[in-house]
Amino acid sequence: MESPRITVKVIISLFCSYMLLSHYITTSSPALALEDCHFPAIFNFGDSNSDTGGMAAAIYRPPPPSGKTHFHTPAGRFSDGRLIIDFLAKSLGHPFLSAYLDSIGTNLSHGANFATASSTIRLPDPIIPAPGGFSPFTLNIQCSQFLQLKSRSQLIRHRGGIFASLMPKKKYFAKALYTFDIGQNDLPEGFFGNLTVQEVNASVPNIVSTFSANIKKIYDSGGRSFWIHNTGPIGCIPYILVNFPAQKDEVGCAKLYNEVAQYFNHKLKEATVQLRKDLPLAAITYVDIYSVKYSLYKEPQKYGFEQPLVSCCGTGGKYNFNSKTVECGRTVTVNGRQIFADSCKRPYVKVNWDGIHYTDAAAKIIFDKISTGAFSDPPLPLKQACHRSLE
Ligand SMILES: *[C@@H]1O[C@H](CO)[C@@H](O)[C@H](O)[C@H]1NC(C)=O
Ligand SMILES: *[C@@H]1O[C@H](CO)[C@@H](O)[C@H](O)[C@H]1NC(C)=O
Ligand SMILES: *[C@@H]1O[C@H](CO)[C@@H](O)[C@H](O)[C@H]1NC(C)=O
Repeated sequence: MESPRITVKVIISLFCSYMLLSHYITTSSPALALEDCHFPAIFNFGDSNSDTGGMAAAIYRPPPPSGKTHFHTPAGRFSDGRLIIDFLAKSLGHPFLSAYLDSIGTNLSHGANFATASSTIRLPDPIIPAPGGFSPFTLNIQCSQFLQLKSRSQLIRHRGGIFASLMPKKKYFAKALYTFDIGQNDLPEGFFGNLTVQEVNASVPNIVSTFSANIKKIYDSGGRSFWIHNTGPIGCIPYILVNFPAQKDEVGCAKLYNEVAQYFNHKLKEATVQLRKDLPLAAITYVDIYSVKYSLYKEPQKYGFEQPLVSCCGTGGKYNFNSKTVECGRTVTVNGRQIFADSCKRPYVKVNWDGIHYTDAAAKIIFDKISTGAFSDPPLPLKQACHRSLE
């Protein structure tokens, strides 16, 4: 016979479990009920928005004053400091990502960065060193480089020795976070190639289908967690504002050009919906960077920014930018005068660094906003981006 004492204990413990359970159910949101993911590595694909040294290693190194705010020396980034991908890597407990193309001091054990400045999704018409050329490292090439890394890194690990420890473990590839921020250059490639805005707009579905094809390649190789940034409001950057005078919206951005970016984002979002159907084991998070970046132009004072449309590093003029290319760090002749395109005094109150790229201060705010999941579909925070949905 059971002793009454045990029965009381059982009842108390049942009651406690019930209390705990109901407390859990009433206080936790669905997102909190999901476990945090463990991403042992990050593989990034993109353009200058996330290039941590690829272009600098392969072709052209951004000169001083780039890097001045955070690294206090040029650090292969088109910025005064860190990029969104730097904040992202840190927040997942990793060091900054090494560029795959960098053969000097490179540690790929926790991931690799295939992004290079001026990369496009589709093969661009002029390629560096042609005038106005774009990066030769398109998204297709970046994916091929990834597949090479995946297979060759395991040969190096088997061989042992000092290089083995600099390579990712085999099991990391399935658990890694695959991040993408590319497409921003596919649009200006058309504008500078003298296509009409309507023609560029009409090319968007093709650009996006090339993007999807590459996501499938990575999925087929075993990748499962995808974190995809949409493209920013290109109509708000001096690079577009100076070269393509157009009707402005209420914050001063070129309306038509932002509409093309929004159409790109619309198609990209549609593509992610389709990819979730086609790739049943993939967790695909679509991140609305556009809205976050646009809010910096719309309400700069809320974030401590001033004159958000004016570049920090440049050579004067309405937007402190005067060219088809970045001039920050170069000496150029303006109206017969030699001018060194130097940094502004207070980069931390600026949104735009050099006419195209964002400052360290802006990147930090953008990352803080996107990491919560508030701008994601599904609305999962970065740390839970290995899950397919809220359930
Ligand atoms: C490479 O990075 C890993 C992960 O951060 C670290 O543990 C390791 O010490 C690094 N190796 C070298 C040689 O710096
Ligand atoms: C675009 O048009 C301008 C002006 O007509 C011309 O100078 C330039 O070479 C053209 N660019 C391309 C890529 O065709
Ligand atoms: C781009 O194309 C889409 C689909 O045809 C259309 O709805 C949109 O208005 C176009 N945008 C621009 C800026 O031409």
